[in-house]
Amino acid sequence: MTESAFPPFVRDAGEADIPAIRALADRTWRACYPGIISHEQIDYMLARMYAPEKIAAEMLRHEAVYLLVSPANSPGGEPAGFAAFGPGEEPGAVLLHKLYIDPAHQRRGLGRHLLAEIETRARARAAERIVLRVNRHNRHAIAAYLRAGFRVDRDDRADIGGGFAMDDHIMIKAIGG
Ligand SMILES: CC(C)(COP(=O)(O)OP(=O)(O)OC[C@H]1O[C@@H](n2cnc3c(N)ncnc32)[C@H](O)[C@@H]1OP(=O)(O)O)[C@@H](O)C(=O)NCCC(=O)NCCS
Repeated sequence: MTESAFPPFVRDAGEADIPAIRALADRTWRACYPGIISHEQIDYMLARMYAPEKIAAEMLRHEAVYLLVSPANSPGGEPAGFAAFGPGEEPGAVLLHKLYIDPAHQRRGLGRHLLAEIETRARARAAERIVLRVNRHNRHAIAAYLRAGFRVDRDDRADIGGGFAMDDHIMIKAIGG
C-alpha cells in the first residue's frame, strides 16, 4: 500500500464509463488470467461478459451496480479498478460479480477498499451474506478474499458454452442481517 493511494476514491459508474470498464477488464484479464484459463477462454468470456450492451442492460435493470476506484492522488483520472455487485439468487445474499484492479495498481489496497465498500452497500440492503465465484487456481484473488473474511463454501464447475467451463470456488462472507 502506498500513502498516496489512500484513501481511494470510489464512485458509482454509469453508461458513460462502459469504455473505461471494458478497457480495465481487457488489461487485467490478459495480464492475470493466462495460466489460469486458456487465451481462447479469455477471449470468449471477455466478449460475452463485457459486451457494451450487456453492461448497459445490467445497469439499466439494476442487476448490477458498477463501482470505480481511483487512487487518492488522481480522483478525477482514469479509474484503477472496478467492481460489480447485485442481488444474489437466494434472498439475503448479495452477489459479487466482478472485481478487477489494473495490474499497475494491484497490491496497494484498492481491491480491499472496494470489498469494504461492497460490504457497506450489502449491509445497507440488509443482506446476510456476500457470495462470489473465483477460479480455483486464482490464488492471489483467493488470498484477497480470505483476507477480507470470505471462506470457501463449496466448489462448482459450470458449463459456459463454447466448450468452456468455470472451475470455481464459491466463497461466502456472512455479514449478519
Ligand atoms: C485480486 C485483486 C482484486 C486484489 O486486489 P488488490 O488491490 O491487488 O489487493 P489488495 O492490495 O487490496 O490486497 C488485499 C489482500 O489480498 C491479498 N493479496 C492481494 N494480492 C495478492 C498477491 N498477489 N499475492 C498474495 N496475496 C495477495 C493479501 O492478503 C492482501 O493483503 P496484504 O497486502 O495486507 O497482505 C487484484 O489483484 C486483481 O484484480 N487481480 C486480477 C483479477 C482477479 O483475479 N480478480 C478476481 C476475480 S474473482
